[in-house]
Amino acid sequence: MRENYIPVKIAGVGYSLPETVITNDDLTKLYETSDEWIYTRTGIKERRLVSGSEDAMDLGLDAAKKALEKSGIKPEELDLIIAASSAPPQLYPAIACHIQSRLGIETDIPAFDITAACSGLIYGMQVAKGFINSGIYKNILIVATDNNSRYLDWTDRGTSILFGDGAGAMVLTPSSDGIEDILSIDIKARGSIGALIYKDNVGKNCPLVEPCPEHDGFIHMNGKEVYKFVVTILPQYIEEIIAKAGLKAEDIDYLIPHQANLRIIQAIQERLNYTDEKVITNIKYYGNTSAASVPIALAEGVEKGTVKLGSTAILCGFGAGMTWGGAIVRLREGIC
Ligand code: COA
Repeated sequence: MRENYIPVKIAGVGYSLPETVITNDDLTKLYETSDEWIYTRTGIKERRLVSGSEDAMDLGLDAAKKALEKSGIKPEELDLIIAASSAPPQLYPAIACHIQSRLGIETDIPAFDITAACSGLIYGMQVAKGFINSGIYKNILIVATDNNSRYLDWTDRGTSILFGDGAGAMVLTPSSDGIEDILSIDIKARGSIGALIYKDNVGKNCPLVEPCPEHDGFIHMNGKEVYKFVVTILPQYIEEIIAKAGLKAEDIDYLIPHQANLRIIQAIQERLNYTDEKVITNIKYYGNTSAASVPIALAEGVEKGTVKLGSTAILCGFGAGMTWGGAIVRLREGIC
């Protein structure tokens, strides 16, 4: 270990979901589909959607408060806020700045967003770990939150069946007992296939120049190609992360993956030869909540007792960019 290396403690996690539930049967009112078609291809039965003026910032704030409470860190003790979102309700101010304000933090700590879609938590953890390990910042709040439902074309049955809204948060601090909780972490991107999932901002050129083509602002996805790409690279990638940590798959207690498609999760599960108890899934009830998916699965798993603490877990995400990433973490008692 490097001299002056400060290990990271995962001090608290939390999550938040909107109350409104939309089932697969509800979607049959919008277009021709069926619960059977959606469930067999994706593992999704229902999703939670924001309603009225509720948005990703409200959900993120709620998740942040819960993670902070568990961590024992007060908002005014934070040194940095990082928010991860696929598509923030406002591009600026950053979600992280809104959270800073709504937590009542009056010191001018830095706050910024990262856009790594459904890999957002892992990207945020990598950035935060670097800051803590090097002693630049101590207490860091990561908020991963999305309200995809507001950017879906609700006539497009290829995308609108998949996504839901939600938020998750994690508080990272220096570890006082010298134990590093992020045993291994890695992030990747391949921009050359970015067109597989994209969402344009809507804007117009100056009226004095030639107009630009109009964009709809919806989430667009080539679902088949995304599926093929992810099942081709992810299982082997996760094996590599495990090996990088000097571990074997059987040394790790849980797989807590991004909840995009149950069949993708099962492909990883098969590769690692894990039983169902070791694989945390909630896609059936929440669909794909993008950046929020991994922290929701983690925090909810702990809350419901499907993830026992004093354990280790592989977190992994993938999404637009294309980005992907994975982390092997130690889950201490008391984080949720
Ligand atoms: N209900 C009923 N029929 C549907 C449908 C729906 N919701 N969506 C598509 N169909 C139809 C299509 O029109 C097509 O009919 P056709 O053969 O008569 O043209 C047929 O079903 C097959 O469509 P296709 O788009 O090829 O389906 P698919 O098997 O690829 O499944 C996904 C679509 C989206 C479920 C699947 O591609 C997927 O999950 N991909 C991964 C996406 C992902 O994980 N994205 C997030 C990354 S973070």
